[in-house]
Amino acid sequence: MTLEETIASRQSVRAYQDRPIEEEQLISVLAAANRAPSAGNLQAYEILIVRDADRKNRLVGAALNQEFLAQAPVVLVFCAHPARCAKYGERGRRLYCIQDAAAAVSYAQLAATALGLATCWVGAFDDEKVARILDLPPDLQPVAMLPLGYAAETPQRAARRLLADLVRDLPTLL
Ligand SMILES: Cc1cc2nc3c(=O)[nH]c(=O)nc-3n(C[C@H](O)[C@H](O)[C@H](O)COP(=O)(O)O)c2cc1C
Repeated sequence: MTLEETIASRQSVRAYQDRPIEEEQLISVLAAANRAPSAGNLQAYEILIVRDADRKNRLVGAALNQEFLAQAPVVLVFCAHPARCAKYGERGRRLYCIQDAAAAVSYAQLAATALGLATCWVGAFDDEKVARILDLPPDLQPVAMLPLGYAAETPQRAARRLLADLVRDLPTLL
């Protein structure tokens, strides 16, 4: 799959097959996340791997009962680590660590797509509940959860804004 094809075929999937993913696939997805850019290359985030049914089910409860989270064989939880980019002061702690984690999520999503896996970025959750369920240290802030597995649905492709609406001063050749 070319990068263009990968980008075009990624979509949020909210139903997963009861089928495990290969360990090599998981490592490829994590390695892609690790290639994402980050402020000062400090990579101010950590990724937790959740596979056990008990914690996945509790994460569902912390995330507005989004049941599909527990269907996926693996849930990756991307957490910002503000202390890692403290050298950038308040901007690093407030913004860069979140951006670092978000960039890693995007890379992971595209890598998963290229491997034939499905994902959905889940951001609607109660931070404190997630931190409790995962026993997170106080310096980790959950940013996104990413269920990873084989799709059990083919959703309608979500529409996008027109480039002309999204981009100021769009080049005239477009
Ligand atoms: C910051 C963020 C938070 C999101 N949170 C959720 C969520 O909690 N639950 C969900 O089902 N989808 C969530 N999504 C996925 C979006 O709904 C989805 O990306 C959007 O509707 C476009 O659809 P597509 O991913 O299929 O292109 C989130 C996406 C982002 C970037």
